[in-house]
Amino acid sequence: MAKSAARYVCQSCGASAPRWSGRCEACGAWNSIIEEATREAAPKGLGTRGGRRIEFVGLSGENLAEEPRLATGNAELDRVTGGGIVPGSALLIGGDPGIGKSTLLLQVAAALAAGSRGARVVYISGEESTDQVRLRARRLALGKEGVELAAATNVRDIVTSLETGALPAAVIIDSIQTMYVDTLDSAPGTVAQVRSSAAELIRLAKRRGFALFLVGHVTKEGLIAGPRVLEHMVDTVLYFEGERGHHYRILRAVKNRYGPANEIGVFEMTDGGLVEVPNPSRLFLAERRGNVSGSAVFAGLEGTRPVLVEVQALVAPSALATPRRAVVGWDNARLAMTLAVLEARCGLAVGGRDVYLNIAGGLRIEEPAADMAVAAALVSALEDRPVPDNIVIFGEIGLGGEIRAVSQPETRLREAAKLGFTAAWLPPRTKGKAKLGSELALTEIAHLDDLVGLIGRDARGARRQSGLGAE
Ligand code: TYD
Ligand code: MG
Repeated sequence: MAKSAARYVCQSCGASAPRWSGRCEACGAWNSIIEEATREAAPKGLGTRGGRRIEFVGLSGENLAEEPRLATGNAELDRVTGGGIVPGSALLIGGDPGIGKSTLLLQVAAALAAGSRGARVVYISGEESTDQVRLRARRLALGKEGVELAAATNVRDIVTSLETGALPAAVIIDSIQTMYVDTLDSAPGTVAQVRSSAAELIRLAKRRGFALFLVGHVTKEGLIAGPRVLEHMVDTVLYFEGERGHHYRILRAVKNRYGPANEIGVFEMTDGGLVEVPNPSRLFLAERRGNVSGSAVFAGLEGTRPVLVEVQALVAPSALATPRRAVVGWDNARLAMTLAVLEARCGLAVGGRDVYLNIAGGLRIEEPAADMAVAAALVSALEDRPVPDNIVIFGEIGLGGEIRAVSQPETRLREAAKLGFTAAWLPPRTKGKAKLGSELALTEIAHLDDLVGLIGRDARGARRQSGLGAE
């Protein structure tokens, strides 16, 4: 006889606890734990009878052909997925509500169906009525052929409808948090429902061989189960991010069983929906004003694609006992480290000042290679001396103030040259590796001190004596 028991499950990470508490011990989220009823079967030893014998095979075999891929016709999505979607695979697209997930997938559905393949594409919305989706499609001026719409939330109905009939190329579920399986008591959006619904749909996708897109909302309050609880079940995890105030949207692969992770796709949100941005550097640098202090251009790399962005810094005298450190688009701890190195190794007094750092354009940078560009922007702001605007910068900073080599300098420099930059500040022993030389004037920087010297007046001693850095 099945036993009914209550358990307390964190809606953010899926960890379960024996009793309720205000904060999840596993992931640290607040107010994310809710009670879920489960019918637990009594655990029983399996014994050795009844199982089927598994065939073991060698590591090498005949079926080593590349997985067939289906290009979606959306260049940025194809780039992020590593060349198109794989039939029978499951993709999770996570992001804040209102960021544009439904818009993106509706466009992708139309593109898939419209392409020469004329594939059947199924779009199931659990949030909007079919009329609302139609209205959106009309506003986006999407082709009408091939996309089949439904408003449904019961997974049993969905599975029954897709079990037979013409095989769709792709099925889109918007969103997984509205879906439910009727054998569970818990409400849609709870960890148990999200997991079971996804498991059922993924099983169907594998059995029939269509690509499954699952939309997952991310909420800070943790009231609905986050896509994190699904990350291990799907083949590909994409996050759609961007600042609300900006038009740019970044689609980032954080896990990809069929391609490189960390690849990004860039879109611009317009009146006519999401527009692919083939050259993001141009976009990110569009609003840059040349020759102002506190600005430096970082030659970055997102996945395989070089991306140039402007790093902006502002350093101001602080009225607070603990000066403010505000960062947008870059890691807080990394900024603290850079400031500490500037202070301890280069004698720059930043301790008593407010520091603001911003990656222009709304991109979030993860690469340590941005260290030196960040330092340049900080030093430039502190000294009120602009970094010449024809220069790109990259390099990682060590705790001793030494500059470290970073990956693929050549790719970064090529992009910089393409965008009209004429010089670069880069880590030592890079010139030889980056067989480029001719187009850009390369300056190798071995230590942060050299960078400070290049930007500032080289009057650190004088500044200290005058008390400029000590207020
Ligand atoms: P949506 O795709 O509904 O977000 P999600 O599914 O991630 O919750 O996007 C809604 C936002 O996008 C909304 O704020 C309006 C904006 N938007 C445009 O700017 N242009 C458009 O053509 C469309 C369809 C939406
Ligand atoms: Mg939506």
